[in-house]
Amino acid sequence: ETGLITLDVGFKNTGSTQSKITYLDGDLGKLYYRGYPIEQIAEKSTFTEVMYLLLEGELPTQEQLNKFEADIKKNSLVSVEMEQILKAFPRSAHPMGVLSTLTSSLTAFNPKAVNIKSEKDLYNAYTLLLGKFPVLCAWTYRLKLGLPLNYSDNRLDYPHNFYQMMFKMPTEDLEVQEVVVDAINKLLILHAEHEQNCSASTVRMVGSAHTGLFASISAGVSALWGPLHGGANQAVIEMLEMIQKDGGDLQKWVDKAKSKNDDFRLMGFGHRVYKNFDPRARVIKKVADNIFNKLGIQDETLEIAKKLEEVALNDPYFIEKKLYPNVDFYSGIIYRALGFPTEMFTVMFALGRLPGWIAQWKEMRINNDPINRPRQIYIGNPKRDYIDINLRN
Ligand code: SDX
Repeated sequence: ETGLITLDVGFKNTGSTQSKITYLDGDLGKLYYRGYPIEQIAEKSTFTEVMYLLLEGELPTQEQLNKFEADIKKNSLVSVEMEQILKAFPRSAHPMGVLSTLTSSLTAFNPKAVNIKSEKDLYNAYTLLLGKFPVLCAWTYRLKLGLPLNYSDNRLDYPHNFYQMMFKMPTEDLEVQEVVVDAINKLLILHAEHEQNCSASTVRMVGSAHTGLFASISAGVSALWGPLHGGANQAVIEMLEMIQKDGGDLQKWVDKAKSKNDDFRLMGFGHRVYKNFDPRARVIKKVADNIFNKLGIQDETLEIAKKLEEVALNDPYFIEKKLYPNVDFYSGIIYRALGFPTEMFTVMFALGRLPGWIAQWKEMRINNDPINRPRQIYIGNPKRDYIDINLRN
């Protein structure tokens, strides 16, 4: 009735804010954290240093890094009541749902951290979250397997500590190979920040109402859970296993992904911004090759992934639509090689993305951005008068 055509709507290209954190060039496949190219950062930095860079804007001196790391570690104990919340969940609960709930519950147990009146308050709130979040992530895994919970071991660096919280059994020592720790470090760095993606925009949206940090991050965890976003790394493995079980006819599945009458999509392909290779996917593919060679792993899923990439990259439809592998295409294969179960892949993505979410939230609050309130294009009924129920047909 309004005579309007239905436009292509949705937050697709909106300049929703100004930011100094991340530079993305989708056509050239470039990604810079505070001006530093992701390839250099992934090669040379540590995840804790990248957290500092994203949050404070500069690479830290050794002294600054030591203090930052100490401020995080002193927050790595989680209240016992949080264990009770965790244990109220059934083992069948998806770890992302458990993580979102536990993250929001931090508000109840750290009420002071919510009243942010200064940059010091903000620093205290996010170092508290950076200390507790990896523990909560590991606990979602331990819950699923019905295993006793591990606590943070502050003598260890971040990736070693997370790995032991995930896999240490009380009955034996835990050996962890450096190639595994290096892969975890790189994966967390590569997932750490990505401009105004769906979950970061969610964190800003919720935080723009001056909702507390923990509840805002909890909303970001929920947004990341979606299979079109961070949940894609789990969906990629499920897709590759399905193709394998179906006999491995790759062209059949690529054709299905192209068909208008089929809502099947090649998970791990395509990106709203990158119309060229996702620079992270290039680095992650190298990490995959390195870890499989060093651990001597033969994984048919990795072989299928490489062949699928080859078929898709040479397919006219994918070329015309500019669909390339994204960050999620290879990450799940590595997580599996590192011993993480499929349902934990998106939790690993959230662990990596946490500093990016906090940096976006911090920038939004320091810049005093207004409450987010987008408008719409109304295509409903024109004005009409109320009809009594006994006159309706
Ligand atoms: C992440 O934004 C970020 O930065 C996200 C992220 C981050 O770091 O935070 O990079 C992480 O979420 C990576 C994306 C992970 N998701 C997937 O791998 C799921 C599969 N990919 C798609 O669903 C899709 O490509 C999206 C969601 C990633 C992007 O969707 P867009 O930009 O909205 O594109 P679209 O859905 O409008 O598709 C454009 C065309 C369509 O064809 P037409 O309707 O024009 O004919 O491309 C087709 C789509 O059908 N298409 C695909 C496809 N992705 C898009 N066809 C087959 N397989 C695919 N994967």
